[in-house]
Amino acid sequence: MNVIVQKAKRIVGEIELPGDKSITHRAIIFGSISNEETLIINYSKGKDCLSTLTCFEKLGIKFEKTENEIFIKGGEFKEPEDILNCENSGTTIRLLSGILASKPFYSVLTGDSSLRQRPMDRIIKPLREMGAKIYGRNNDKYPPLTIIGKKLKGINFKMEIPSAQVKSCVILATIFAEGESIIEEPYQTRDHTERMLKYFNGEIKKEGNKIIVKGNQILKGKKIHVPGDFSSASYFIASALLIPNSEILIKNVNLNPTRTGFLKVIERMGGKFKIVNQREISNEPVGDLKIEYTEKLKGVNILPEEVPNIIDEIPIIAVIGCIAEGETIVSGAKELRVKESDRIKSITTELKKLGANIKEKEDGFIVKGGIKLKATKVNSWNDHRIAMALTLASFIAEGETIIENSECIDISFPEFFDKFKELGVNFNFY
Ligand code: S3P
Repeated sequence: MNVIVQKAKRIVGEIELPGDKSITHRAIIFGSISNEETLIINYSKGKDCLSTLTCFEKLGIKFEKTENEIFIKGGEFKEPEDILNCENSGTTIRLLSGILASKPFYSVLTGDSSLRQRPMDRIIKPLREMGAKIYGRNNDKYPPLTIIGKKLKGINFKMEIPSAQVKSCVILATIFAEGESIIEEPYQTRDHTERMLKYFNGEIKKEGNKIIVKGNQILKGKKIHVPGDFSSASYFIASALLIPNSEILIKNVNLNPTRTGFLKVIERMGGKFKIVNQREISNEPVGDLKIEYTEKLKGVNILPEEVPNIIDEIPIIAVIGCIAEGETIVSGAKELRVKESDRIKSITTELKKLGANIKEKEDGFIVKGGIKLKATKVNSWNDHRIAMALTLASFIAEGETIIENSECIDISFPEFFDKFKELGVNFNFY
């Protein structure tokens, strides 16, 4: 599917966004591994979360799904009769591997052509150290993965790459291991797994940058309310900042500080926004965001330590950088090269087609602002975050932009175009 996007005149109004993708994955996972019943409210309907749900179904977990809720009966896992297809979802394959490493049966995990090119040695290494039998294609680098579950032992794991998926994979394995585990991150990454483990009555604590998890745990079932997805909100925040005369309110967004680095970036750029109605739901911070058009934004320098907390928003920052005065420089973001696409290459290539002055670096990019983008035909590289960042770029480009392969947006945010329609924007599809 291709979408035609016109230069936008104004966005205005109030919206509420679907549940967070990272939190929904984890809610399905914790609901499945606890020995009781769990109710997930406002879950993400993105295809990625559906992949997680389907995998657990194949592992014998029973659930009922309605328009707004998933009811899960956690407990015993069975050996799956067929491969577990994680499709496009890195979170599914990495977190699920952490659980299956201790389950006493054989399983094979695979995914689509993008997932089969994504590095898995980063989880194979620590899981093996815990005693797991886990193998991957191409010398243990890529999926398909084969796992034969074993009794695991605790680990003292110093992570080299800041990755919440790797951290969460290991935390999930340590819950069922013998003895205590210590996990140390180079930089703080999103902490939804730690928060949710606590919420499900698990034992986990933080001392400095060390995470300490008790082994052999039994978890409680819970009612869990998933807040709006901050990463999805970021496309709306950026649109309101960039489209003249815009003013929007986004309600019930997750404001976990390990996710909202993007707000700090736009604050430095001079963006006008306000956080109101802050509160906590199911052990996650939540609030409402008011954003208004900001005529003069300035370029910023983004440092490696900021990257984990803006990792999924960097393509958006590239687009804002095209407009902001001066240079925007992103460094220390090499991890972007192993996402659903090589996001450094995909975003710089496509923005250049729109006339951007952007240069690729090994670990990021440099974009010179103050440019007027011009509509043309661009491609999503089958990467949902690239397709959505290009929609944002199309809103400010002169003319009518065509984005090819826009259907990949369904991976995280099937309601994306409808939510923009609520704010007064129209699209054509063919
Ligand atoms: C995620 C962690 C991040 C992020 C991804 C979701 C998670 O990946 O990019 O969209 O839910 O843990 P990495 O851990 O590979 O950085």
